Amino acid sequence: MLRRLHKIQPESFAFTPENQIWAEAQMTKFPEGRQASAIIPILWRAQEQEGWITRPAIEYVSDMLGLAYIRGLEVASFYFMFQLQPVGSLAHIQICGTTSCMICGAEDLVAVCKELISEKPHALSEDGKFSWEEVECLGACANAPMAQIGKDYYEDLTADKFRALMADFAAGKIPVPGPQNGRYAAEPLSGLTSLTEYDSGKTQYNASAQLAVDHGDTIKRIDGTEVPLLTPWLGKSTTAKKPAAKKAEAPKVAPAPKKAEAESTVVAEKKPRTMTAPRKAGADDLKLLSGVGPKLETTLNELGFFHFDQIAKWGAEEVSWVDARLKFKGRIERDGWIEQAKTLAAAADKK
Ligand code: FES
Repeated sequence: MLRRLHKIQPESFAFTPENQIWAEAQMTKFPEGRQASAIIPILWRAQEQEGWITRPAIEYVSDMLGLAYIRGLEVASFYFMFQLQPVGSLAHIQICGTTSCMICGAEDLVAVCKELISEKPHALSEDGKFSWEEVECLGACANAPMAQIGKDYYEDLTADKFRALMADFAAGKIPVPGPQNGRYAAEPLSGLTSLTEYDSGKTQYNASAQLAVDHGDTIKRIDGTEVPLLTPWLGKSTTAKKPAAKKAEAPKVAPAPKKAEAESTVVAEKKPRTMTAPRKAGADDLKLLSGVGPKLETTLNELGFFHFDQIAKWGAEEVSWVDARLKFKGRIERDGWIEQAKTLAAAADKK
């Protein structure tokens, strides 16, 4: 299938503030110079926010990661999970058409999509609320045939049950995901014949369906306020902090962020003293600072920093100013640049 950017594109793209913080935090999972590795989760969040991947979104994400736009386009156009055309404003329906589902009635579900949404996949319904496509195996073969609607799986479907689901969605309801034929999960239809002791104490729905019900975000466009931003890989020194969640929107399942993580720590910015060129003896090798590679060194030089003693003098407000001009925040504090710069500047003085 030929995958091209849609011919009609919006003017611009921007993450919501919460999604921006989330996206910058994903970049910190990778070592310096490898931030491009975060492209798939960040593009995915762009799609969760907008419903589909626009050209401005590809360019925005590529800029964040320091990538040429063509690299961003290569990723977005390679993976079929990225929608390159507008999807239904309410829900995008993905019907599994692989072997188990095909044998068990996927064609009937496709026929319902054609009747209720549009004759062709990837086209919007007349009211713009729905779109559909056929996809490869979604890994729920024991509950065939099935469809992914928004984030969640609706399994053990028949044409009539699927039609009823569509009516519910159109009426503004969110039907409970999971098996639609009374099964709890993927056990035999006649009930469990073994491991029956594990039948007690279970949640009302199976784990996936229960989580979907608890989160209630099956077809929601994700703006980043849904669950707290957790960055365990950054330890305590993280600066990728999420603004305090509104009480009414507190997550039902994920633990609340610790107070220190939930509070915004906005430090005023102050431009440090910069230089237009290095001193006569030449610039220091800023790559000696941990986390600084050739690219970041060039950025620092462009900002007017060439020497360790310049960096050693930064206070919190200066760090905040520089931080705001780097590709992502928190690096200076995390990698201890100031302490390193003081040591390196002192060593240079002794020479
Ligand atoms: S064949 Fe449909 S989920 Fe695997």
